[in-house]
Amino acid sequence: MTDWPTDSADPLGLDAAQMRELGYWVVDRVIEHFETIAAQPAIRTGTPAELRAALGGPVPRSGGDALEAMRTLVDVALAHMQHGDHPRNFARVPSPSSYAGVLGDWLATGFNAIDASWTGGSGPATVELVALDWVRELLGLPEGTEGVTTSGGSLANLTALAAARAAEGPGVCYLSDQTHASIPRGLTALGFVADQVRVLPADGDMRLPVAALAAAVADDRAAGRRPGFVVANAGTTNTGAVDPLVELAALARREGLWLHVDGAYGASAALCEAGRRVLSGLELADSVVLDPHKWLFQPYDLACLLVARPGVLKGAFHMVPDYLADITAANDGEVDFRDRSLELTRRPRGLKLWLSFRVYGVDRLASAVARGIALAEHAQRLIERDEDWQVVTPAQLGIVTFARHGADRREHHAMLAGIDEGGYAHITTTSVGGYAALRLCTINPRTTECDIASTLERLGIRVEA
Ligand SMILES: Cc1ncc(COP(=O)(O)O)c(C=O)c1O
Repeated sequence: MTDWPTDSADPLGLDAAQMRELGYWVVDRVIEHFETIAAQPAIRTGTPAELRAALGGPVPRSGGDALEAMRTLVDVALAHMQHGDHPRNFARVPSPSSYAGVLGDWLATGFNAIDASWTGGSGPATVELVALDWVRELLGLPEGTEGVTTSGGSLANLTALAAARAAEGPGVCYLSDQTHASIPRGLTALGFVADQVRVLPADGDMRLPVAALAAAVADDRAAGRRPGFVVANAGTTNTGAVDPLVELAALARREGLWLHVDGAYGASAALCEAGRRVLSGLELADSVVLDPHKWLFQPYDLACLLVARPGVLKGAFHMVPDYLADITAANDGEVDFRDRSLELTRRPRGLKLWLSFRVYGVDRLASAVARGIALAEHAQRLIERDEDWQVVTPAQLGIVTFARHGADRREHHAMLAGIDEGGYAHITTTSVGGYAALRLCTINPRTTECDIASTLERLGIRVEA
């Protein structure tokens, strides 16, 4: 400790003793949340009027009671939301957060850590570099691959495509109609015009058809356009389908295309044996996105982008405004994360991921991921017992879609009433190749077989053997 003068009086009016008391209160509420979540609604949505009545009002001119305000946040604001970590939240992509991830985020926030420049955040930057490299190794990408974290898959995919285009120049981008909607949106934001975006119909297995892609590339060349990029899916959001990555990588290499793999949802499955089999070829990509806030047990928000071509991220995003020249000059070839995406000020998202690897270890994380895959297979087996129902797409990477024979989307939607009521579980309808279906995403390792069976029963499925 230095003997520099300290003055702990807080000009804003909360002192250390109060912070300690309030902080412990927060810890207790969060543990209570984790402990009681299964008995709480999976989702609860308020009306604007009731929420405004509790949370709105005029600008508070003078301060009030901290604990009372925090109670309002817990009891009102945080009670009206979808709980991504609820064991019966099977909708969209859940977010089964975990203690180590929460602790890492708390430390990052408490220390107000920043991870923008090496000089200003060498510790957090090293943590992010190390965590990204662990992810790289687990995905089998080559050494020298560079990465960056972003807020989520949408931004990570956009960052990848911006960097790829900066490296390769303008070109046509190919994707299937099962690609996440944020990617065409990102392409538009990046200035790709209509004839630079080719959305190809997926095949019967909801995968990008390689022959159709090859034909589209040939057509574009014949028409004088320059094919540039392929976006492949490593686990589509709708069905968990994985595009034929090995064949796509071979085609991309032959045609000189950048292969980007959106594994925001599914790439985490590469941690376990069952997932690795399905994801073969992922390691051949030029860039890959993986969202730990989806299937690596991290609280929002955290996505990882890995780019196998060194220097490409810096080539796209490097900047040195005058006021940052000193901090840049002090850097001796180390990584300034502000040079790897569009963010300058950035929270150190690597801390929670690093801590989770250190606390849990890959083996535990891998078996938690494997459980998510197995739970969807279990759900499929239960659905198959009732001849009034059919599996629309088989369990793939933790997602199964299914339908009652002859039911349309409206009827499927009506079946959700018994489940949504009281928030017992949360699931959604979807459409697969034009067919109405229901969909379960089962990546929460705390979900029990009983949670699955009781949810299916409430939909009207006879699950008994
Ligand atoms: C495959 C895939 N890509 C991208 C995204 C977008 O990710 P985010 O919501 O983190 O921006 C999602 C979200 O569910 C996804 O499933």
